[in-house]
Amino acid sequence: MPELLPQRQNPDSLMLTGFWYRALPADQVHRTSLYKATLLDIPLVIGRDRLGQPFALRDSCPHRGMPLHCGRFDGENLECGYHGWQFDVHDGQCELIPSLTADQNLKVDRIYAGSYACEEQDGFIWVFIPDPAPPGAGFAPRTEAPDAAPQLEKFSENYKLAYLQAEMPVSTDHGIIGLMDPAHGPFVHQAWWWRSRHSIHEKQKNFEPIPNGFRMSAHTPSSNSAPYKLLRLYADADSITTTIDFVLPNLRTETIRAGRYWFSSLTTVTPISRNHCRIDVVAAWNLFRWVPFVPSLMKFVFAKFVEQDRRTMELQAEGLKHNPHLMLIDDADRPAKWYFQLKAAHLEAKRTGAQMKHPMQGPVTLKWRS
Ligand code: FES
Ligand SMILES: [Fe+2]
Repeated sequence: MPELLPQRQNPDSLMLTGFWYRALPADQVHRTSLYKATLLDIPLVIGRDRLGQPFALRDSCPHRGMPLHCGRFDGENLECGYHGWQFDVHDGQCELIPSLTADQNLKVDRIYAGSYACEEQDGFIWVFIPDPAPPGAGFAPRTEAPDAAPQLEKFSENYKLAYLQAEMPVSTDHGIIGLMDPAHGPFVHQAWWWRSRHSIHEKQKNFEPIPNGFRMSAHTPSSNSAPYKLLRLYADADSITTTIDFVLPNLRTETIRAGRYWFSSLTTVTPISRNHCRIDVVAAWNLFRWVPFVPSLMKFVFAKFVEQDRRTMELQAEGLKHNPHLMLIDDADRPAKWYFQLKAAHLEAKRTGAQMKHPMQGPVTLKWRS
């Protein structure tokens, strides 16, 4: 029996710890310089050592809270600008307290600046944000990440890689449900070269549960968009398939395959603070690598989309200021419901220590018009 009245739902704006997050584009982080970044309301200082190895520290000196990005960095140790304490940038361990006299035996190496596991992957510096540190942080080494930072899937040796970013004044939850929302397309992403709002028609897509998320099963992309028609022609492939996955906390991967050509993207919506997020799209492809202008054209098209979403969310933030009740309707908002259910199930599993109970029992077909 279908629900007649949509349920009222409010996102909880909880930011999930215990995951990797994209902090900064790798090409913006140069050796022996310091950069500020914020993830989940945590101030960070990010940099690269002399050898190019990235690091991430809490942007706060464990002595008296001076922001460490104001200090001096020689490519190895970071010296706080207030009293000159020095820290190893990779593990945060204190190396020197200049005010100590020879007979004062304070155990300097027991002191740590907050430090985070940090990796460079597909053009971004990723930082692992652990669950809130136990009391006594400041005297504890960092929590190591249980796994490597997420990676883009690639299907051949040679490919191009590009990224796009946009900051949005809404919570990560709104950013994420906006990203997986099929119904806004005809209204937000209109353009003569893409599709018109009159091309709206009924669609049916199959979804299935995957660990920590869900998948829109491999399907032939919507035939009403010009770029896909072009792609089919170019790739000379009978079939083009698209697979879209969403996995907690914020990862959306899209893979398009047409014969020996492929396009792969990993989009993340990163919590900067409770009411502020950033969308980063990183794409890799082996299509059109030799055709002049096409990569820049593709970037232009993507940038247009992201800008349309950003602008929409900026406007939405106006409305959200007054804490309205929100609705999620079937079937168009079902992915958003799954997202909230996954998040709740994840938190519940963490609380109880039991295995996470996936909100989907099996494959589901959703229908909507877009
Ligand atoms: S505040 Fe950093 S050394 Fe004192
Ligand atoms: Fe969109």
